[in-house]
Amino acid sequence: MKGLKKILGLTLAAMMTISLVGCSSGGDKGDKTEVADKLQQIKDAGVLKVGTSAEYSPYEFHKVVDGEDKIVGFDDFMVQEMAKDMGVKVEYTDMDFDGLLGALQADKVDIVLAGMTPDETRKKSVDFSEIYYTNSNVCIVSKGKEDSIKNSNDLKKLKVGVQKGTTQADYVTGDLGITDATQLKKMPDLMMDLQNGKIDVIVTGKAVAEINVKNYKNIAIGNSTVGDEVAETAAAAIKRSDDKLDNSAFLKSVNDTIARLDKEGKTDKYMQQALELAK
Ligand code: ARG
Repeated sequence: MKGLKKILGLTLAAMMTISLVGCSSGGDKGDKTEVADKLQQIKDAGVLKVGTSAEYSPYEFHKVVDGEDKIVGFDDFMVQEMAKDMGVKVEYTDMDFDGLLGALQADKVDIVLAGMTPDETRKKSVDFSEIYYTNSNVCIVSKGKEDSIKNSNDLKKLKVGVQKGTTQADYVTGDLGITDATQLKKMPDLMMDLQNGKIDVIVTGKAVAEINVKNYKNIAIGNSTVGDEVAETAAAAIKRSDDKLDNSAFLKSVNDTIARLDKEGKTDKYMQQALELAK
């Protein structure tokens, strides 16, 4: 009896050990398979969900094509190629620029292309692709006032307008300390304010300025290098990997497309085509 109890006890103990070992190794495996591959998720869905703010011509803007309202522009050319390389379709969510990274964090979109500059603050919360376009910043003023801004001190004496949540807004309010600058959510509203004399100057990217001075009357690019000290670069933003999501293949795919387009000379061609579309 005593012996039997002992054997039973030993067997029980052995069984428990086996099941414990089984549990922990099974648990490890389970954890690994729980890490989703973002690229695979996108391929499975057949759709790349793109967040943008389509009021930033020539990067992204609305245009009626064949009777249909479409989001077009430089970033659209770029992201269509990225999606093509992944074998999926593009689906846009259009929103205010300052809401884009929040939407990315909340998984409402897979990627953000919005002429977005990968600055240090943003890099703390999301991952960026390689930079696919570099531009400078300029000042847009009323026609005839092209020489009104020689340096940043001249800018401080004027009513300055910038787009809310942008690197230009950071530069003007932070670097230059112009805290009372007008900050609006959409570029066209800033252009209207400049035309109506509510503001004297808009600090924005050069390509954006070039197209807007063509499309709005009585405004011009100022003869000034103010704004130049911060580059207007553009990169795609994606959600950072965590213990549930691995974005590395996705990021690589995006970067491969950027490198391919650059090698094929298509990036510059697309900017030219976007400027044509925006006229
Ligand atoms: N490059 C600037 C930034 O990242 C401005 C981008 C504005 N883009 C837009 N779609 N409105 O802050």
